[in-house]
Amino acid sequence: MQNTQQYILDNKDKFLAELMDLLKIPSVSADPAYAGDVAKTAEFVKASLESAGCDLVEIHETAGHPIVYAEKMKDPSLPTVLVYGHYDVQPADPVELWDSPPFEPVIKKTDIHPDGAIFARGSCDDKGQMYMHVKAFEAMNASGEVPCNVKFMIEGEEEVGSVNLGKFCKDNVEKLACDVVLISDTSVIANDTPSVTVGLRGLSYVEVEVTGPNKDLHSGVYGGAVGNPVNILCDMIASLKDENNHISIPGFYDNVEVVSAEDREEMNKAPFSLEDYKKSLKIDAVDGEKGYTVLEQTSIRPTLDVNGIWGGYIGEGAKTVLPSQAFAKISMRLVPNQTPDEITELFKSHFESIAPVSVKVKVTPHHGGHAAVTPTNTDEYKAASMAMEKTYGKKPIPQRGGGSIPIVSLFEKVLGTKTVLMGFGLNSDDIHSPNEHYGLFNFYKGIETIPYYFQYYTELKQKQS
Ligand code: BES
Ligand code: MN
Ligand code: MN
Repeated sequence: MQNTQQYILDNKDKFLAELMDLLKIPSVSADPAYAGDVAKTAEFVKASLESAGCDLVEIHETAGHPIVYAEKMKDPSLPTVLVYGHYDVQPADPVELWDSPPFEPVIKKTDIHPDGAIFARGSCDDKGQMYMHVKAFEAMNASGEVPCNVKFMIEGEEEVGSVNLGKFCKDNVEKLACDVVLISDTSVIANDTPSVTVGLRGLSYVEVEVTGPNKDLHSGVYGGAVGNPVNILCDMIASLKDENNHISIPGFYDNVEVVSAEDREEMNKAPFSLEDYKKSLKIDAVDGEKGYTVLEQTSIRPTLDVNGIWGGYIGEGAKTVLPSQAFAKISMRLVPNQTPDEITELFKSHFESIAPVSVKVKVTPHHGGHAAVTPTNTDEYKAASMAMEKTYGKKPIPQRGGGSIPIVSLFEKVLGTKTVLMGFGLNSDDIHSPNEHYGLFNFYKGIETIPYYFQYYTELKQKQS
């Protein structure tokens, strides 16, 4: 990989300039107003894979946003690595809380990123991390050091639940055949503490609607007698957790994977400072489920959180009104053995059952996904561990992540392939938040590390056969 690494050093500025261009296209998958920009981004990714040296690059239209597929097939007897990533991004709102416009990338230094970080929506999640793979491949290809077959599947709907990717995988099992799926869309513990993500949580996401009187009413004339849907929704939501922050939906924990005391002890050896954590979020205390550490609360335990809540008058000044309706969006992060359909059903029947007769309740499910756990005793994992040890000078710590990438469990089901989650972001990079950023150190460290993954994985697989 000597020539590859030299190529990377020689092309650092070019790589960064290209990423900045990619970040300028607002590929917000959730908002139909950006559909044209999402399509433009797919074209950008396609062109970048072509110029990086893939033999075949295709755009596949779906019922939603397009999927970019590319490959370089060297020899059928060599192992095949499928790189998955996403080029779509979360909405930038609230835009007024950004220090610079979300789609005009700028580089600024921060305490955690003394070499500078790129501030833009999608810089870390996932354009910056996805693009590391394109550039690592370009470097290997230009140096004649691509050690195995490489496939890319870069989608435009991850942030809206990968709703059309499952069908694409099922329809293209042969095209996508591979020995491992490699994804950079997660974090490391710190820039001097590398880690490989070995688990993701699942997700059940619902929207609830509480309807009381058939119209907004005068809160003096009717208030006191007629049930207020906003008050009632708040009561209902409050009742979903007890004083220990334990979720009170009957059956919710029935299938939760019980992690052994040994594994929990091991997990809690990962470096973590509660003081720094609170300080970084400007909170005086955390407020999680009793009996578990923050590391456990954000990885092996399920959650229930209101993501948004509204109803009644929220304009300037005061308007005396008893609203007709109230709404909330609620997410539940799931752990292994909880299935999104079952949990959504449990939520729905419980929520309907606790509604007082003075209101009507409607629960609408959104997208969901299964949790995933990846083993550490495989060549797939070992290669990631070796690659990171090579470039960070330290063996990475296996750690489960709290976020979700719903398609990972599907890769295993449909393609029969294990996934390796070798991400390079930091939890403090503000993904999904205002001022999302991605460290230049992280961007370049990823590009440097990825070619070693390909090399070590190929060597390990060949030793085995
Ligand atoms: N890249 C994230 C997931 C992630 C981030 C996992 C950090 C682990 C650590 C991904 O783009 C994402 O945001 N997923 C969504 C789920 C999706 C169905 C909208 C999530 O986790 O909210
Ligand atoms: Mn992502
Ligand atoms: Mn995301």
